[in-house]
Amino acid sequence: MTGEATARGPARVNLIGEHTDYNGGLALPFPIDVGVTVRAEAISGDEVVAVATDLGEEDRFALRDVPAAEGWRAFVRGTVAELRAAGFAVRPARLEIAGNAPRGGGLSSSAALEVALALALLALSGEADAVDRVALAKLCSRVENAWVGAQTGLLDQLAALVGRPGCALRIDFATLDLRPIPLELRGHRLVVLDSGATHDLSAGEGYNERRAECERAAAELGVRWLAEADPAATARLPDPLDRRAEHVLTEDARVDETIAALEVGDLAAVGALLDASHASLRDLYDASVPEVEATRERLLEARALGARMMGGGFGGGVLALFPPTAEPPAEAVQVEPGLPARLLP
Ligand code: GLA
Repeated sequence: MTGEATARGPARVNLIGEHTDYNGGLALPFPIDVGVTVRAEAISGDEVVAVATDLGEEDRFALRDVPAAEGWRAFVRGTVAELRAAGFAVRPARLEIAGNAPRGGGLSSSAALEVALALALLALSGEADAVDRVALAKLCSRVENAWVGAQTGLLDQLAALVGRPGCALRIDFATLDLRPIPLELRGHRLVVLDSGATHDLSAGEGYNERRAECERAAAELGVRWLAEADPAATARLPDPLDRRAEHVLTEDARVDETIAALEVGDLAAVGALLDASHASLRDLYDASVPEVEATRERLLEARALGARMMGGGFGGGVLALFPPTAEPPAEAVQVEPGLPARLLP
């Protein structure tokens, strides 16, 4: 037990493997330096008081029978309620939340917030060090599903909680097997350029609709996970389910192809795989928007080896791989694997 604790939750980049997590497939994300910091201080009484410093807003709610809410408050209330439902002792606390990850930019500022909140609250009751991080990722994902209304998978929370410095994390979402893959870029740079179109994963049209389509496709094919379907069988699905399935299966294969290319230092092949991922997300998954296409064009004109939309789609950032000889646009942010979620001294 301690009177106060500060936790940092990182945002994430996903090198490749998009819309595969809720389909039992593969992805290759890593945590980055920007993220969310939560400072928790134990208080007397039976409430949680949360302050979003960047927004200048406050929330206050009873620890027992946490009521639902909208916006950033849903994340705080959901994290408290899910920790309690899982049997953790949550103490009355004042929480100060501050972040430097762009919201809606496809870097998963929401998972950064959830994991920072959870670790800070667990630290107050002396449970942060012993917690199983995969179980905590699932708990944080329930916050998105049940409290925020975004039917997202486990990609962002696992990347934030289990990433390793210098590595991308190969995640197999069917088995939850996690394998660090050294990210050796031989002088090349990965950058993210914001498209300016913000995405809301809890919006009815878009992300949740794609997930429902994948579930329908898996049910029609008689498999638990779409990623385990026989590629030959997907052609008999009606449009657009056939295209959704084709995206998931080819994207899944691209993850291990990317790992193989990294292992032999073939960065041109990595670039080509990013391009193939983008084409599939745009043409088969129908997850692009004009702003994302224009942003990707800019990156390719600046001589990126490959570029693709990243995250939930329908907006957000574009990830690109630049060779040592080319200069990314000035507003592009260079990204590299950073530390996973942690308590700060
Ligand atoms: C969002 C979700 C993740 C994942 C990606 C798409 O980031 O939060 O669970 O589905 O989209 O790969």
